Amino acid sequence: MRTSRILQTVLGVLGAGLLMISGAPADAGVSTVGATGAGDPFFPRQGNGGYRVEHYNLAIDYHPATHHLAGRARIVAHATKLLTRFDLDLRRFMHVQSVQVNGAPATFAQPRAEVQELVISPAAPVAQGQPLVVTVLYAGTAHDIFDPDGSPDGFIVTRDGAMVANEPQGAPTWFPVNDTPRDKATYRVQVTVPRGLVAVSNGAFRGRTTSNGRTTWHWRMGTPISSYLVTATIGKFTVRQGTTTTGIPYFTAYDPAEQAAAMPVVHRLGAVLKFFSRKYGKYPYGWAGAIVEHARFVGYALETATRPLFDRAPDALTFAHELAHQWFGDDVTLRHWRDIWLNEGFAEFSDWLWDEHRGGLTAHQHLRRLLSHPPSAKYEWLPAPAAPPDSVHIFANSVYERGAGALQALRQKLGSPMFFRILRGWLRAHRYSNASVPQFTAYAQQVSGRNLHHFFYEWLYRPAKPFS
Ligand code: ARG
Ligand code: ZN
Repeated sequence: MRTSRILQTVLGVLGAGLLMISGAPADAGVSTVGATGAGDPFFPRQGNGGYRVEHYNLAIDYHPATHHLAGRARIVAHATKLLTRFDLDLRRFMHVQSVQVNGAPATFAQPRAEVQELVISPAAPVAQGQPLVVTVLYAGTAHDIFDPDGSPDGFIVTRDGAMVANEPQGAPTWFPVNDTPRDKATYRVQVTVPRGLVAVSNGAFRGRTTSNGRTTWHWRMGTPISSYLVTATIGKFTVRQGTTTTGIPYFTAYDPAEQAAAMPVVHRLGAVLKFFSRKYGKYPYGWAGAIVEHARFVGYALETATRPLFDRAPDALTFAHELAHQWFGDDVTLRHWRDIWLNEGFAEFSDWLWDEHRGGLTAHQHLRRLLSHPPSAKYEWLPAPAAPPDSVHIFANSVYERGAGALQALRQKLGSPMFFRILRGWLRAHRYSNASVPQFTAYAQQVSGRNLHHFFYEWLYRPAKPFS
């Protein structure tokens, strides 16, 4: 490592005792190297240390015929410690051509053994608190990756474009990112595709421009979100724009093959958002919408911020589930992946509420139906929703169903007024931020003034049917 003049000065001030600096482990207090992970035991390489991102400006150029993707990412961050080296997350099939840090060329590597670490050494060290503006040019043949549970994730190529779904680890398939859910940032995304295709991302639609047979779609997400909630979905879509009855502008995109089945459901957008706003508080974002793909092989839908993404025409409950995530998951986001109940349990419970509201089963009936399963029903009860043992099980059925049951049981124990007071207060306390399950259980105890230890142990942690 070349020791720059600034670093020599720093070393001079700190004294000779710190000369082990270049050989120090990534996390040692004296190290000037940003950590290669953000400390999530389920996804150890995900995210990085040493800086925080405020904003991503992404320009993506995609050729569906060859799957060739070229990107330019301008990342506005700041160093949280003195940095001589740091990582971004980017899969190695996206080949980096150049990296600039604060306007000067930086050296970089994409080590084979490290799977998704883009290791960057700026020409000069960046002091703690200083701006870290990183520009990365890259290109490659785009494709998805497989999650521990076998689902496709990331830039999922479809017959006419791509369904881009990043949860939990797909973002680095298509842009360099600090891919921890805890580093929320604003986004500007522009996607250039052949004329006739539509490219949909999050937040405000800022228009499109066409030249030389290619169209660039401009998007702007001005509220900070986690990277797993960003999309840049591309296809031959029918677009509908308008404003909900409560005044929220929306942009929806339908694959023509799913449009007829999807429209009656997606037309309830305003009604669903209004219902959840009454229960949970104001809708967290300035824009809304949906993207309905025709990509059934994906096998799941995703709560991409402001614009949930469906692999097929959703049924009413799946649609409500992804919209409820805008509050639980997108606005208040899990801290670690083991906290997944805060996302999925709450969204699934919201689904029960919506079902009750629309004259289907009541939430009480949903809970009774769940409880009718015997203790031997592993699919219903295991793993416990707040104790998934590993990354394979974060989207297990029990995280959703038993997870929803935990909330309905809490509602029946505390009464609806107290229960919804807790949910609304919780959302307010962690707005646009992250939280953990222990924070929620402590908060519920504090607001209700009740001892809920045993209740939460039975519903969230014990590896068995609750109270069996
Ligand atoms: N969060 C999505 C939902 O609302 C599920 C994502 C599943 N992703 C996966 N890789 N298995 O249900
Ligand atoms: Zn969900």
